[in-house]
Amino acid sequence: MSTTHLPITDSLYRYVLEQSSDGHDPLLTQLRRETQALGNVAEMSISPNQCSFLSFLTGLIGARYAVEIGTFTGSSSISIARGLVPGGRLVCFDNDFRYTSIARRYWFRAGLQNKIELRLGDAHQLIPRFRSAGLLDLVFIDADKEAYDFYYETLLPLVRTNGLIIFDNMLRGGKVVDPVRRNEPATRAIDELNRKLASDPRIQSLLLPIADGLHLCRKLERGY
Ligand SMILES: C[S@@+](CC[C@H](N)C(=O)[O-])C[C@H]1O[C@@H](n2cnc3c(N)ncnc32)[C@H](O)[C@@H]1O
Repeated sequence: MSTTHLPITDSLYRYVLEQSSDGHDPLLTQLRRETQALGNVAEMSISPNQCSFLSFLTGLIGARYAVEIGTFTGSSSISIARGLVPGGRLVCFDNDFRYTSIARRYWFRAGLQNKIELRLGDAHQLIPRFRSAGLLDLVFIDADKEAYDFYYETLLPLVRTNGLIIFDNMLRGGKVVDPVRRNEPATRAIDELNRKLASDPRIQSLLLPIADGLHLCRKLERGY
């Protein structure tokens, strides 16, 4: 019998992390523990295998210049910044001082403070005013779900050909296929964006079932 998809049990998930070169990163593990002490909001952090995947992808495309919307306590920013080429730069947007103070502390501990810049405030206002210092190689979007499409349309023109825009939480815990809950505003926005991306001629899109779903968009030549 062929397996179209494999249910990931806890032990299988542990195995996946153990058989990856940076699946158990001590600094990210400490950060995860400190984040868990904040309570339920800790669920907002990306998962350990998403961290590895982001570092891997950033390195794979030789990214030099990246943007992140939704930094929280810093897991994804550390992962992206670690994958950047020497001299590379990540600009982060978040509107929460308390969470990003934790991120800042860990950027220092990771020795990444010179690679990462934080812009604190509402991304709805900051992103349209963002003047990039060149074309972007990678954008990671993990903030308010109903604004994802706005962030996408605003930043796509700033991304280089073959650059990536990556969205998190694109499966919404399975709600995108739940006949009732798919109508919740944030889930409807994500479902509509997934459908739009799948047929957007400006990009090649790939929706991956990693953690809560990452939608990868590779900008095509005709994406200008
Ligand atoms: C899901 S968390 C990001 C998790 C993070 N990527 C990580 O790996 O830990 C979402 C973050 O987006 C921020 N956020 C939500 N709406 C925002 C907005 N309109 N402007 C800026 N930041 C926003 C929140 O403060 C929160 O820190």
